[in-house]
Amino acid sequence: MIVVVAALKGGVGKTTTSVYLAALAGPNRRSVTLVDADAQASAADWIESSDDELFERLNVVEAPTERLLAKALDRIHDDDVVIVDTPPAQERMLGKALDAASVVVVPTRIGGVETSRVRAVLEMVPKRMPVGLVINSARTFTRDYHDALATWAEEGISVWGTVPERVAIAAGPSGWLSPDGLDSYRRVWRRALRASHGS
Ligand SMILES: Nc1ncnc2c1ncn2[C@@H]1O[C@H](COP(=O)(O)OP(=O)(O)O)[C@@H](O)[C@H]1O
Ligand SMILES: [Mg+2]
Repeated sequence: MIVVVAALKGGVGKTTTSVYLAALAGPNRRSVTLVDADAQASAADWIESSDDELFERLNVVEAPTERLLAKALDRIHDDDVVIVDTPPAQERMLGKALDAASVVVVPTRIGGVETSRVRAVLEMVPKRMPVGLVINSARTFTRDYHDALATWAEEGISVWGTVPERVAIAAGPSGWLSPDGLDSYRRVWRRALRASHGS
């Protein structure tokens, strides 16, 4: 199972989403690998510098070029779970990852431009591949948030979860994984699993 965390923009929570999903995929699985396809390697650095026990058995592969990404994805066995963190503004890399995906998670934030950027990513996702949004760093009490949810619902686009804005989540590698973050991303993980089994 290959879960691609896909966005064309930086700062929408791709790395945070990838790291939390990788942590949650862990405990019951034989093998979980996080493939970091961003040359910045922020997901790889995060896991390397964290003491969180949820990362204990996680494999990390840095694959910052199309060639390395293809290689990393080729090596996957049937029961492996792989989470792919993708770089911003690299359509070709993203396209390569999407071609190999079993399920796609699209992180976004709330805001006018964000909606059109999400649509651009959704257009790149192969037909019939399960895809869902995760709304990151959300202020769930705002009008904008509720309007955005209504828009996605009208368009038939699945929202697999909302992650509230939290200091503990923004702490990244310098803190433990946040209980709020784990709760929110657990819902996303379950939806992604269900969607991938249904396909
Ligand atoms: N739920 C959240 N609450 C607060 N800050 C968040 C949350 N999710 C992500 N962030 C912060 O937003 C910034 C961008 O997130 P990141 O995962 O690095 O995005 P990307 O990989 O898309 O560039 C980071 O500083 C991160 O800590
Ligand atoms: Mg990133």
